[in-house]
Amino acid sequence: MHNLILLGPPGAGKGTQAERISEIYGIPHLSTGDIFRDNLKRGTELGLKAKEYMDRGELVPDEVVIGIVRSRLAEPDCEKGFVLDGFPRTVAQADALKGMLAEMGKPIHHVLNIQVPDETVVERLTARRTCRSCGAVYHLRFNPPREEGKCDACGGELYVRDDDREETVRTRLEEYRAKTQPLIEYYRAEGLLRDIEGGASMEEVLSSIRKVLE
Ligand code: AP5
Ligand code: MG
Ligand code: ZN
Repeated sequence: MHNLILLGPPGAGKGTQAERISEIYGIPHLSTGDIFRDNLKRGTELGLKAKEYMDRGELVPDEVVIGIVRSRLAEPDCEKGFVLDGFPRTVAQADALKGMLAEMGKPIHHVLNIQVPDETVVERLTARRTCRSCGAVYHLRFNPPREEGKCDACGGELYVRDDDREETVRTRLEEYRAKTQPLIEYYRAEGLLRDIEGGASMEEVLSSIRKVLE
């Protein structure tokens, strides 16, 4: 059983690796960013509220995010384990997570800290394409779809996320440094942090992660 957290700047490859981990180990992939984008697509109140922050590259307020994760972790599929992608992102979220997992009697096994330099972040995000229907993620150079503009998995339309424009990426990096980076020391102090070199190829990053898990 694996209860995992993926930590890392925007574009580090959290979503990409979480998908692979989810398939290999049969555990659900919980991405707060995907939950917000899915809500926005369906036009829910939550989606519209989150959009204000996401479009500026800022974090959505803690109380909004924490409630969502609490109810998601209580669903039966999380009994087998889970891989959290993009949560926690602040010390308040990490404290809340600690509390809710303690209530549920679940430990955190590893916090995988995927490290990549800023130039790599910009290169990866400006050429990322996301499927509007199923959320699958591509990269024009490193992981291109078979047919331009079309999702391999479902045939859906590929689009550029609103927050992948370069100036918004800069704000997201600032938010990461100010609010999320402190979690590295937070989890190191708990003995849970595992550093992963994220600048390598997708396969190499996956194999470093598997080494930690096996
Ligand atoms: P979220 O959707 O979580 O975005 P993020 O953390 O900025 O991360 P990304 O999804 O941009 O990057 P990733 O690490 O998943 O990289 P990916 O695998 O796609 O959050 C969006 C927004 O929602 C936030 O800004 C905030 O507003 C809000 N939000 C979400 N969670 C929140 C929370 N907990 N609290 C408050 N607000 C929250 O890879 C990137 C690209 O690189 C892809 O094209 C991929 O194909 C390519 N790639 C991946 N790995 C490699 C590799 N090894 N080599 C080459 N290319 C690669
Ligand atoms: Mg992602
Ligand atoms: Zn698709």
